[in-house]
Amino acid sequence: MVFPTTKKQEEQLKRISEKMSRIKNKLLVMSGKGGVGKTSVAVNLALALSSKGKSTGILDIDIHGPNVPKMLGIEGTVLYACEDGIEPVRINRSLKAVSIALLTKDQDQPIIWRGPLKTALIKQFLGDVNWGDLDYLIIDAPPGTGDEPLSVCQLLPNLTGAIIVTTPQEVAILDSRKSVMFAQKLNTPVIGIIENMSGFRCPKCGTEIYLFGKDGGQKAAEELNIPFLGRIPMDPEIVKYEDRGKPFIIEREKTEAAKAFFQIVERIQERLENE
Ligand SMILES: Nc1ncnc2c1ncn2[C@@H]1O[C@H](COP(=O)(O)OP(=O)(O)O)[C@@H](O)[C@H]1O
Ligand SMILES: [Mg+2]
Repeated sequence: MVFPTTKKQEEQLKRISEKMSRIKNKLLVMSGKGGVGKTSVAVNLALALSSKGKSTGILDIDIHGPNVPKMLGIEGTVLYACEDGIEPVRINRSLKAVSIALLTKDQDQPIIWRGPLKTALIKQFLGDVNWGDLDYLIIDAPPGTGDEPLSVCQLLPNLTGAIIVTTPQEVAILDSRKSVMFAQKLNTPVIGIIENMSGFRCPKCGTEIYLFGKDGGQKAAEELNIPFLGRIPMDPEIVKYEDRGKPFIIEREKTEAAKAFFQIVERIQERLENE
């Protein structure tokens, strides 16, 4: 990779602003803690929006653990670069995806990079991908408040906002408070908190079991004075569909979890499209 000179840097920032000005809503999905369901939320949110006819892109900037291609069933696909930029992978008529995992065929090689390289790659993804005109770009970040979400918030002054994913348990909420503070410090609006893995309904007796506690995300949202977007229950089918790269929210739209997802998507749309 060639490090840009100052003039090149300026040109790159101009390209980022041009490309991003063609995207109406740019949303960063983040969380304080890993494994809370960020990528699941990002992928299902993108699938839901595209199923409603919204032209959508999903950008995976989780450099050390890029899971978007697996969940979308495009593992092994390699991004195509032409003279005027990088072509995103088409998932369906209204959904396109880009991930670092699509740069090489070897999915098992860990990426060992430090901050400046990560920032350089994110700049390329924002400035050189031919997304075209989009209604939504969903950006899936790694956990925490490191280089990746920081680069996005700094490079996109007109980022629409951050969506924070948490489980209902204390430790996840403690971490999501940090995500909220991080967004606020960077002047990124917080669209709201999604509580994931909130309760599991026993398939035999129908009793709801609260594996990770109850209502924690909602309480955190109230305490931090930010919107609560809703809760998604645990559903083993989510794991099954994601492992197979099949669109859970589309193929299992009648499940409680898919309905919960769609409700959250509606709340997000109401907030962003009516403004
Ligand atoms: N609501 C849910 N019910 C059941 N499993 C879930 C749910 N949300 C996420 N998962 C599973 O939990 C694991 C972690 O989710 P993932 O989206 O990769 O989290 P993160 O991106 O925050 O690390 C994955 O195996 C995923 O399939
Ligand atoms: Mg993830």
